[in-house]
Amino acid sequence: MRASYILPSIGLLASIFMSSTEAWDAITESMSSHDNFIVADGYGPDRWGCSFRDSQVHESGAGTKITIGKDSDLKPYSCGELIHRQEDLGYGHYSIDMIASNVVGQVTSFFLIANEDTEIDIELTGLNTKIGWMNIWHERKQHPISINLPFDAADGWHTYSFEWRKDFVVWSVDGNVVLNRSDIATTKPDETNYRLAINSWTQVNPEDNIHWAGHFQYPQDGRTPSSQFRNMRYRP
Ligand SMILES: *[C@@H]1O[C@H](CO)[C@@H](O)[C@H](O)[C@H]1NC(C)=O
Repeated sequence: MRASYILPSIGLLASIFMSSTEAWDAITESMSSHDNFIVADGYGPDRWGCSFRDSQVHESGAGTKITIGKDSDLKPYSCGELIHRQEDLGYGHYSIDMIASNVVGQVTSFFLIANEDTEIDIELTGLNTKIGWMNIWHERKQHPISINLPFDAADGWHTYSFEWRKDFVVWSVDGNVVLNRSDIATTKPDETNYRLAINSWTQVNPEDNIHWAGHFQYPQDGRTPSSQFRNMRYRP
């Protein structure tokens, strides 16, 4: 008898809770298929030494592999980017598993992006795969901080995540909190259109971020420079 009174009241509470918060949908992608992603093709920021090409993005049972090609007709190299089709993402917990490239100048990244100057990022660079860069782009300014990793990010899968809230962003690696920033504001989700993305690209311009990513040169030893990704998740 009592259960019939309790159940409707739980339902009522749930509906009050839902209506008082914004309804963002969760994302769970193994990344072994790209149906829910836009695979970038034929563009890339001018300051980079590569253009995104869908031919550099590969599906596999283990997730997604992005390789760097040296046959680009637009830039010295071709690289890859995937953007999840879901729009208007908001506060919550974002995570992914990655294996970084250890080729100097190559950047392996997971990021929430609204436009070129509004991002929350995790970036691993081939210059030093024992650190990870946690970054916020806000009002045309970057605020990167490097974190020492207790492993080599190119040696195997590790989980990188950030929890974005109104007043802070907390980054974690393999479930351990590594950074909490409440000193940098973020653009509110209802003011812009945040989307979730990954990419792997090359830095070739020596004036630009050279100490951060290094100067990319295609390996001469037959290796194909690559970054790997799997298990992209967003929990509102
Ligand atoms: C991060 O900092 C904010 C603001 O100081 C605090 O409320 C929050 O509990 C902190 N989170 C973690 C996981 O340290």
